[in-house]
Amino acid sequence: MINTNSNNNNFKYTHSSAHSHIFLIGMMGSGKSYWAQQLATTYNMNWIDLDSEVEKENMMSIKEIFETEGEESFRIKEKNALHKLAHHKNLIIATGGGTPCFYNNMQWMNEHGTTIWIDEPVSILVKRLFKEKSHRPLIKNLTNNELEAFLEQKLKERKPFYNQAKFIINSQNFSIGDAKIFLQ
Ligand code: S3P
Repeated sequence: MINTNSNNNNFKYTHSSAHSHIFLIGMMGSGKSYWAQQLATTYNMNWIDLDSEVEKENMMSIKEIFETEGEESFRIKEKNALHKLAHHKNLIIATGGGTPCFYNNMQWMNEHGTTIWIDEPVSILVKRLFKEKSHRPLIKNLTNNELEAFLEQKLKERKPFYNQAKFIINSQNFSIGDAKIFLQ
């Protein structure tokens, strides 16, 4: 059963019916795209992947943007792609792992819809990511041990942002049958 994030008692953003997006946030490998698809089917809504929007808008892969222009440039492009969502409504959005942590993006998402943090333990993230790290610029050169340490550190840095989500779920405590709560 899922409850509203108790770390966030003073939730101060009103869900704007003008946009009504659902933003899935969390670390790489937490399953944001998987849950976006599941929720989209359940609610009969459309879903998008923010990384794919950045790639389409810039006609470059995320890997190419990091390699040729660096992370700072990627974060600006990511913020721009996020803000374009103000022209749409009722989308489910799988964000990138770092999206909530730059340019007040977390506040922006809370003002434009419902935010859900998929909080998977690092042990699960390591298992999932080790096999598919090549297209993820931040982790592509790391060994298994380095990957674990990197994810622990990143999660620590990102928690204050992720913790601003309206809901927190993970694959242990959430099943798609609980999904109605996000629309209330
Ligand atoms: C990143 C996560 C990636 C992508 C980019 C940076 C991050 O998205 O946005 O490689 O900073 O954690 P996923 O979380 O979808 O892998």
